[in-house]
Formats: sequence, C-alpha cells, structure tokens
Amino acid sequence: MEALAIKPDGVYVDVTFGGGGHSKELLRQLGPNGKLYGFDQDPDALRNVIDDGRFVLIHQNFRFLKNNLRLHGVSEVDGVLADLGVSSHQFDHAARGFSTRFEATLDMRMDQEGERDAKTVLNTYSESELHRIFGMYGELHNARTLAKTVVTARINQPIRTVDTLKDIVRKIAPRGREHKYYAQLFQALRIEVNGELEALQEFLQQTVAVLRPGGKLVVMSYHSLEDRLVKNFMAKGKFKGEVEKDFFGHEIKPFKVIARKAIVASAEEVSRNSRARSAKLRVAEKI
Ligand SMILES: C[S@@+](CC[C@H](N)C(=O)[O-])C[C@H]1O[C@@H](n2cnc3c(N)ncnc32)[C@H](O)[C@@H]1O
Repeated sequence: MEALAIKPDGVYVDVTFGGGGHSKELLRQLGPNGKLYGFDQDPDALRNVIDDGRFVLIHQNFRFLKNNLRLHGVSEVDGVLADLGVSSHQFDHAARGFSTRFEATLDMRMDQEGERDAKTVLNTYSESELHRIFGMYGELHNARTLAKTVVTARINQPIRTVDTLKDIVRKIAPRGREHKYYAQLFQALRIEVNGELEALQEFLQQTVAVLRPGGKLVVMSYHSLEDRLVKNFMAKGKFKGEVEKDFFGHEIKPFKVIARKAIVASAEEVSRNSRARSAKLRVAEKI
C-alpha cells in the first residue's frame, strides 16, 4: 500500500483480486471519488466481490488489462498492483489439484473454463516438451529422466491424479527431499497449464500504456522465473538484452525503479505467515 502511494481521488487496478485482501485495504485508503478495478480469471474469486460503488470486478485474465480497462472507459490509471500466482483458496482447496498434499484430479487451472489442465499436459505432451517444461519451469536437475519416466508410465495407463503422479516419480526423487521435488514438479505443471509467464509478460508490457506518468507499478512474485521478468522489465522496459537508446544515446526506459533490491518479508512476518517466505516485492514509477 505504501508503494502505491495512494491518492484519494486516484484510479487503481488490483490485477490479482483473489480473496480481495489487497483490494479492501486499497478501498479503505481511497477517498469517495477514487476508483478501483479488480481482475481475476478464477470464477471462485467472484464470490469475494466487494459491495462498494467505487469498485468494479472484472472476470478476465490480466493479460487483457488494457482492453478491459478501455471497455470500462478508463485509459490511464495511477497505480497497478499484482500479487502473482495461486491464491491460498486455490492452493488449499483439494479439488483444484494445485497441492501435493491432497489426492485429487490433476487439474491446476486457475480459470476453470480453460481448455488445458495438468492431466492434458502430462498425457499428451511429447517427451521433449515435458523435458523443457520440467527443466525450465520446475528448475529440476533430472528433467530429462523425469520426462522419460512420465512418458513410460503413461503407456500403461493415463496419469490422472496427484497420488498416481507422486507414485510414478517417487523413485527418481532425491531421497529425503521428495516433498521439495514434488513441489517443483507441480510448479512446472501449473506454470504451463496457466501460461503464467506469457500472461505476465503481456501484462507488464501493457502497464506502460495504462499507467500515467508518476503512476506506480507494484508486483509481488513468488519464484525466480517471475521475479526475473519483473526485475528486467522494470529496469529496462524489456525482458532480455540492454536498454534501448535514442539517436543521442539517451536511454529509453518506461520506468524508474523505486527500490533497487526486491523487498522481502521480515523473519517475524514469515513466522506469522510462512507463505510470505518466497515473496519478492518490486516497485517502479512510470516516467
Ligand atoms: C496470490 S492470489 C492474490 C490474493 C489477493 N492479493 C488477496 O489479497 O486475496 C493470486 C490471484 O490472482 C489470480 N490470477 C493469477 N494469474 C492471473 C491472471 N493471469 N489473470 C487474472 N487473474 C490471475 C488467481 O486466480 C488468484 O486468485
């Protein structure tokens, strides 16, 4: 909230509405003429809608930020807040299939109307595609062996549930660190199912057009793949390579980075809320 530097009459967007915790606090700090737009692609999040004339909840993927704001007659905003990834509701609701803790169908879609779920990825992707996903998105060292193990197992019978998948990969997981291994595998599947990195890149690019000069971009991410994209984009206005320069050699950057290092939770906060342990908060101001 501090990083957003909320102006009472400002227009703000919470692109990851979820349980509405951030939106409620934002509304508390906004004045009567302020406005807040929330986005969430999960139909379950719609149940948390806040009854407040200053608030509009948009059931859409944030990769369509700019057009959806335009549909609501908004061309520029004072701040955009993103709290990426899966919500506690999604993670703790067994049937959604996000957690290694519960037996469930391997679903992992944030948007339950999405076409691709984790079962589809596991049972239809080629061995080389699985290898790429496990290596890149799960950062698993034995991604090639894992892909082979999955492809061999599914010949006998499709892989449909969390426990079946854990049984299949247990023998190649590092002894004593199985839980971490499953978590990385599930992270890889979730990122692929939801196209998380593509959506994040499209969203970040649109914030350049959507934020007015001086507007704030505040992003919380929970793994290094996301954080790297956010960090590079805030610093350079692109995801790879060097900052663009104009004819005179001046850097062309859409943002000024506010905190050079990512802000992380204190040990005290992590002891109260273990899910804060991997959170990295980055802040930039539109030039
Ligand atoms: C970590 S939770 C946010 C929790 C929220 N800040 C709160 O206070 O309750 C992330 C939420 O963003 C949603 N989400 C993630 N990626 C999305 C995307 N590309 N488009 C729209 N919503 C997305 C998820 O469905 C989830 O509800």
